[in-house]
Formats: sequence, structure tokens, C-alpha cells
Amino acid sequence: MLENFEGGTYRCPGPGKRRLVPTSTPKAVLVSAKIVLPEAGLLKLVPIPGKGRGVIATRPIRRGKLVEASPVVRMTRRDRLDRSTVLSHYPFEWNEPPYVQAFPLGFAGLLNHSDTPNCRIVTDVEGEVLCTYTIRAIEAGAELTWNYGIDPWFEVAT
Ligand SMILES: C[S@@+](CC[C@H](N)C(=O)[O-])C[C@H]1O[C@@H](n2cnc3c(N)ncnc32)[C@H](O)[C@@H]1O
Repeated sequence: MLENFEGGTYRCPGPGKRRLVPTSTPKAVLVSAKIVLPEAGLLKLVPIPGKGRGVIATRPIRRGKLVEASPVVRMTRRDRLDRSTVLSHYPFEWNEPPYVQAFPLGFAGLLNHSDTPNCRIVTDVEGEVLCTYTIRAIEAGAELTWNYGIDPWFEVAT
């Protein structure tokens, strides 16, 4: 099923689809994520000097576009990752008790930090997604970045 969502399109699970789910997966995970896929081929994951990997645009993107609404895995306090683990660099804050963080599954978790970003990432708790919007026009080949909003725990490359 396709529905409109802030100018984009998201896919909902079709009715009657049979799914095999581990018994520990909360049932709510199955029903409500308002995912918006990036346009085909628009984003590319590439090595970025000094930052590991990063996400670039393959075509120009206009300002104010919803590029992606990424699904997440919501995490309780018990699920939080020790700061010494590499995975702990990825979760977003998630204010929906008992969930305190969410692990990004789309491109959202792969965007690097910038003090002068060209994107912002908005948490949609109800939709269970992280929405990446452009806040400036982006040229083909340019990196998509957002401001993490916390003191960087790494040496910031520009
Ligand atoms: C959420 S991940 C971003 C994707 C990551 N670059 C990767 O390859 O998976 C956050 C990590 O990316 C790196 N990073 C993000 N922004 C950076 C920047 N401006 N300069 C240097 N490293 C950055 C840091 O290692 C940080 O722990």
C-alpha cells in the first residue's frame, strides 16, 4: 500500500502478509513505521577523508526536500550500548517511554556531523522514523550532513 507523506511516498505493510518474527520482537514494530525511501540512486555511501564513510548526492537536491524517512529499532534503557562499542556511535535520542534511544536502519545513521549542515534530521516518534530534510540546496557530488546537536566525541573533519 502506498500513501502520501509530506510530499513523499511511503510504503506500509500490505494486508495479510505473513511474516516470520522472532518472539522477542515487539508486535508494534510491525504496524506503524512511515518509511519514505530515497529516490532510486539519489544517495551514495562513499569513503570521506577523516570521517569514515559518508553519504553524497548523485544529483542536485532542492532545499526543503524530505530525502528519506528511515525506519528505526527503538531501544529501552536496557538496550543502550556501552560507549566503548562502535555501535554506540549510531543511536538517536528517542523520547517515547520506555524507549530512550533508536537505532537508525536507513541512511540517517550514516550522515556525518557538520557545524554548517545542509540537512536536518527530525524524529517522528509516532511514525517511528527519522526524517532527513535538506535545509539548503545540495549539488551533485556534495556530502549530506547534519548537526548532531551534542559535543562531538570525535575529531571533527570538515
Ligand atoms: C553516526 S556515524 C556516521 C557514519 C560514519 N562515518 C560511518 O562510517 O559509519 C558517527 C561517526 O562518524 C564519524 N564522524 C561523523 N561526523 C564526522 C566529522 N565531521 N568528522 C570526523 N568524523 C565524523 C565519527 O567517527 C562518528 O563516531
